[in-house]
Amino acid sequence: MNSKIFVYKNTKISYSSTGKGTTLLFLHGFLENKSLWDEVSSGFTDRYRVISVDLLGHGESECLGYVHTMEDQADMLFALISHLRLRKIHIIGHSMGGYVALAFAELYPENVKSISLVNSTSRADSDERKINRDRAIDLVKKNHKIFIRLATQHLFDQDTHKRIPEKIENFTNQALETSLQGVIASLQGMKIRIDREALLYFGPYPKQIIAGTKDTIMKVNDIEDETEGTDVNFTTINCGHVAPLESPDEVIEKLKSFYKTL
Ligand code: MLT
Repeated sequence: MNSKIFVYKNTKISYSSTGKGTTLLFLHGFLENKSLWDEVSSGFTDRYRVISVDLLGHGESECLGYVHTMEDQADMLFALISHLRLRKIHIIGHSMGGYVALAFAELYPENVKSISLVNSTSRADSDERKINRDRAIDLVKKNHKIFIRLATQHLFDQDTHKRIPEKIENFTNQALETSLQGVIASLQGMKIRIDREALLYFGPYPKQIIAGTKDTIMKVNDIEDETEGTDVNFTTINCGHVAPLESPDEVIEKLKSFYKTL
């Protein structure tokens, strides 16, 4: 898809925009970029305007600082949608993109038509996860590329490595392009992100969570547990942590059936 540039606080942001209609805004996760959503978004361009953005410090977007909080990312997205003169949008976020979607929904609820979290959680990092973020930051500083290689290989189980080897290689090669500053800024930002479980109860817009039954990072039982007692549309796909890459058709189907209910 054709990339366009938007300049935000002297920082270049790369995004793509295709199709006409109600806007779907796709947000990728940590070490990913907007191309993660290419297959899924192509299922919507006939009826929707589809936008995907390289988040700060990822893909072709530059870094804004040394810590990219979820709110920094959300403010950048608000500036982008204001620049594009869009008001209400459906937001779909993969993993870290889901954390950003929730930060956006909290800061700019009037601009949200719905949110869909894919392999993501509304909960903050546990103490153990925070310690692991610090370890990760030390490792990245020592060997940036080895860190990225380990982090991406870890995302897929053996069956998936066998089933879609080229896709995983391409995914890893793109992840390796993430700058050292971009990696650390996101690790820091994710570590300090706040818990947004309350939005699952009180957010005044339809909400959906799509979990992967084989996801080892966002465990399906934990995700289901956080949706208990809420009106969140909770659904699962038989895949690991990167549903948009592993099972794009199922993600399209889940999003479409959610939009049908709105
Ligand atoms: C992601 O895929 O964005 C990350 O796994 C999210 C995280 O590390 O919390």
